[in-house]
Amino acid sequence: MTAKGRDELTLCFSPEEIEARVSILAQELNSKLANERVVAVCVLRGAVLFFADLVRKLSIPNLVFDFCTLSSYGDKDVSSGEVSVRTWLSQDISDAHVLIVEDIVDTGRSMQTFLARLALCPQKGITLCALLDKSESRVCAVPIDYACFQVKAGFYVGYGLDFAQRYRHLPGIYTLHQNWVAGLFFS
Ligand code: IMP
Ligand code: MG
Repeated sequence: MTAKGRDELTLCFSPEEIEARVSILAQELNSKLANERVVAVCVLRGAVLFFADLVRKLSIPNLVFDFCTLSSYGDKDVSSGEVSVRTWLSQDISDAHVLIVEDIVDTGRSMQTFLARLALCPQKGITLCALLDKSESRVCAVPIDYACFQVKAGFYVGYGLDFAQRYRHLPGIYTLHQNWVAGLFFS
């Protein structure tokens, strides 16, 4: 599938459903990490809305933010298979529990790359939260501690998730299909 074609979006999770799941996740993290120094890591760019909503529900007193950028998809909907770390963490994590906030674990290559690099840095512990777990597509085993939603193979957009950088701003999560009409396309 390319970025050309008429996109059809089907609602998968409404803003209300997302809010409810994020609240439950926050409660679990508040219990688990209450007494830790936490570095909450937003995996840019897809996790940005999930991160923003989740951290506002966390009551962990000793929490700071950090950001990293991984890249594997470019503007396509199939992973290139080559993951690169574009921006690494800037906070000191040596005495911290690292709370990774990721949009979706698909093949698992990105998180495997990230976790392998994190394992080289001294830290007190790691918790991996994913908004979506697309486990059918997994190629690398990844220890996800919390997933808001299990999803089937397919392509998901909205609530931070993009297709060719589009649709990130949608408040719900949608599956995306593209329809070709007699060789013409509409956008
Ligand atoms: P991986 O295949 O697990 O390495 O997935 C890497 C990244 O690809 C995810 O963190 C997302 O940013 C992106 N990705 C995977 N599946 C989807 C999808 O269905 N929609 C939008 N982005 C996706
Ligand atoms: Mg991502």
